[in-house]
Amino acid sequence: MTSREADPLRYVREWRSRLLQGGWWHSFELPDGSRIQGVSELASQKMRIAQFPIPQDLAGKRVLDVGAWDGWFSFEMERRGAEVLAIDRFENPRFYEIRSMLGSRVEYRQLDVYEVSPRTVGYFDIVLFMGVLYHLKHPLLALERVCSVAREMAAVESFVLTEQHGLTPEQEPGNLLRYFEDDDFGGQVDNWFAPTAACMLALCRTAGFARA
Ligand SMILES: C[S@@+](CC[C@H](N)C(=O)[O-])C[C@H]1O[C@@H](n2cnc3c(N)ncnc32)[C@H](O)[C@@H]1O
Repeated sequence: MTSREADPLRYVREWRSRLLQGGWWHSFELPDGSRIQGVSELASQKMRIAQFPIPQDLAGKRVLDVGAWDGWFSFEMERRGAEVLAIDRFENPRFYEIRSMLGSRVEYRQLDVYEVSPRTVGYFDIVLFMGVLYHLKHPLLALERVCSVAREMAAVESFVLTEQHGLTPEQEPGNLLRYFEDDDFGGQVDNWFAPTAACMLALCRTAGFARA
């Protein structure tokens, strides 16, 4: 497909229709060797977390997973030895289901990222904030909340605008934040902003992170 062809977010529509059929989002390996196949591939989940300098041994560390959804990243942090709190704006029954199947002790709370603070959740060595930013009407406020509880680092991952989404090569390095008023983000109605990568880093610095 050429860079500015019809709908560069067609894949989002495909994911959405698969999810609406009632499937899992995350994929999982179960203790008996069987697998749950979600819309998201296990290899992709492993690759996404491997982008961040998160140690394999997290013994003695506290991790917060913001917007955990089915929870694969939470359980992966627990597998590495961390004590984990997973939060999400909506209470997902699949999280309880898979937590039980995995014999996990990850704590799960229904909590909006805007409510995250040292008073409500305490402090964490690592905060995962993956795949959530572009779902938010107040991305900078959310990053401030994430920064307020992160002691060592936050893994911030987002959809970012590129040339594929209509940016010119001159615009791409700029601090641009595109706003989606309707469902023009692949048919999604809960996607509001998409930053360029440079913008995302700038937002993180403004939110209080010493280095991004
Ligand atoms: C695209 S999923 C990302 C799931 C997972 N973190 C990942 O990267 O695979 C976005 C998740 O963020 C949650 N979410 C959206 N807005 C939120 C908010 N204001 N506070 C907390 N969670 C939110 C959604 O309910 C959903 O579970």
